[in-house]
Amino acid sequence: MSESVLQVQDLSVWWGPAQAVFGVSLELHSGEAVALLGRNGAGKSSLLMALAGWTRHAATQLDIQGLDARTWPAHRRARAGLALVPQDRRIFTDLTVLENLRMGLHARGPRPEGTPRFELEEVLDLFSALKPRLGHWGSELSGGEQQMLAIARALLSHPTALLMDEPTEGLAPKIIDNLQTALASLRHKGLSVLLAEQHQRFAMALCSRALVLHEGRLMDASHAQDLGLDGQL
Ligand SMILES: Nc1ncnc2c1ncn2[C@@H]1O[C@H](COP(=O)(O)OP(=O)(O)O)[C@@H](O)[C@H]1O
Ligand SMILES: [Mg+2]
Repeated sequence: MSESVLQVQDLSVWWGPAQAVFGVSLELHSGEAVALLGRNGAGKSSLLMALAGWTRHAATQLDIQGLDARTWPAHRRARAGLALVPQDRRIFTDLTVLENLRMGLHARGPRPEGTPRFELEEVLDLFSALKPRLGHWGSELSGGEQQMLAIARALLSHPTALLMDEPTEGLAPKIIDNLQTALASLRHKGLSVLLAEQHQRFAMALCSRALVLHEGRLMDASHAQDLGLDGQL
């Protein structure tokens, strides 16, 4: 098996006193795409945010590219190649599309060998709907365009692994199809992906295996049918 970009043992996540994730272990190999499935409230976002260093968590192991990242703050994990596209997208509505993209360039770390290179021209080819919108304010974009911008900005930061949180949420079927095509092409370039989704068909079109979260714990895939999540596993 190829090397790990992310290796996690016994990860727990808290929001204030409330625990949202309980002892999750997972591994993401270089070039691999893994789906994180589960119902609303299962802990998908909490898990991704903890991996990116955005919320309080503890783990016995959290390695990024073989380095112990447990004490690293979010910006250091980002520079090490972990890029989170959060569920709420967090694009800057009072900056233009081009200025938003430049923020991704600022977050750039050294590009590890074997990591695909994404420059402005490439991400605009991938998400061509953004090209005529470069001078527009973030606030003027449709939901689909905002999602594309959030992913494009993350790609410009030189990620080794892209963590995406429900990118299809609220998008029309046609836009979801476009997104699927763009993400398939990213997979082709060898980018590692951890994709939280409730849209299972979309997730399994891109990912080679799935993890199922239920009430903050990873389920055995054989139990996933109890949740009606067995369709694509
Ligand atoms: N920002 C937050 N502040 C407080 N609690 C949160 C926050 N985000 C999520 N939670 C809580 O964590 C639990 C898991 O939610 P979440 O990780 O958002 O699940 P999912 O992404 O699978 O829908 C829920 O009980 C939710 O209320
Ligand atoms: Mg969520």
